[in-house]
Amino acid sequence: MTAPYLQASAIEVAFGGLRALQDCSFTITQGRITCLVGPNGAGKTTIFNAITGFLKPDSGSVAFKGRALDGLKPQDIVALGIARTFQNLRLFQDLTALDNVLVGLPDMAGEEPIGAIFRPFHAARALAGRRREAAAILEHVGLAHRANEFVRNLSYGEQKLLTIARVLATGAELILLDEPASGLSAGALDAVMVLLRRLQTEGKTLLVVEHNTRVVQKIADDVLFLHQGHLMAQGTPEQIISDPALAEIYFGGAI
Ligand SMILES: Nc1ncnc2c1ncn2[C@@H]1O[C@H](COP(=O)(O)OP(=O)(O)OP(=O)(O)O)[C@@H](O)[C@H]1O
Ligand SMILES: [Mg+2]
Repeated sequence: MTAPYLQASAIEVAFGGLRALQDCSFTITQGRITCLVGPNGAGKTTIFNAITGFLKPDSGSVAFKGRALDGLKPQDIVALGIARTFQNLRLFQDLTALDNVLVGLPDMAGEEPIGAIFRPFHAARALAGRRREAAAILEHVGLAHRANEFVRNLSYGEQKLLTIARVLATGAELILLDEPASGLSAGALDAVMVLLRRLQTEGKTLLVVEHNTRVVQKIADDVLFLHQGHLMAQGTPEQIISDPALAEIYFGGAI
């Protein structure tokens, strides 16, 4: 039997007395869009942190394509093909949109500065190539016209698209998006949904934290429902949204 694409097994995370994740086990299927839903404080971002190496679970493990990620650093996990966005964006406000993508491209970081001195022509050509690559990624998310704009001048919706561009720059195949649609206008929301579907058709696997049930219904193949650190349910969007007990938890019975 082949290993699950991503498998989380019995993850436990506590912050002092607060049990943020309790016995959390789930799998993510390759090529699908999985939405992670649940009320504020349920532990959704903590799951992202546990998968991507930003925190070490107290117990339990995460495996990607059969390989344990335990103890790996965030950059090692990116190199294996898993990248994430942050709920609070974490963009470089004083760089342009293009430069924010450029710094996400894999070989930028390890470049030897001495090489640029001895082989300046080669270095300049390599940089030009990477700038073209970054520009193509911006084009892909619909931000080509904003490439040379400073991030601080971009709208919130544009900044959210830019966080997705930066994740794409890593070349990751499994992409974790923490609330990519929150705070967006209706038009920007539609653009994000179209983009996520397109990424799926291009072969990406997505795990998306999302609060908006309309978005979940439109984009999710699978839904994980988290409440107070427990994985309460998993199923199709229809199964989750039509479950009165889950609706009570999520909306206080409002739907
Ligand atoms: N570094 C931390 N130190 C202490 N407590 C934390 C830390 N990170 C998260 N928590 C707590 O753990 C719980 C789960 O937080 P988490 O951010 O994962 O929730 P969430 O489901 O992403 O919520 P939201 O929908 O508001 O983003 C919350 O009670 C939160 O206050
Ligand atoms: Mg969160």
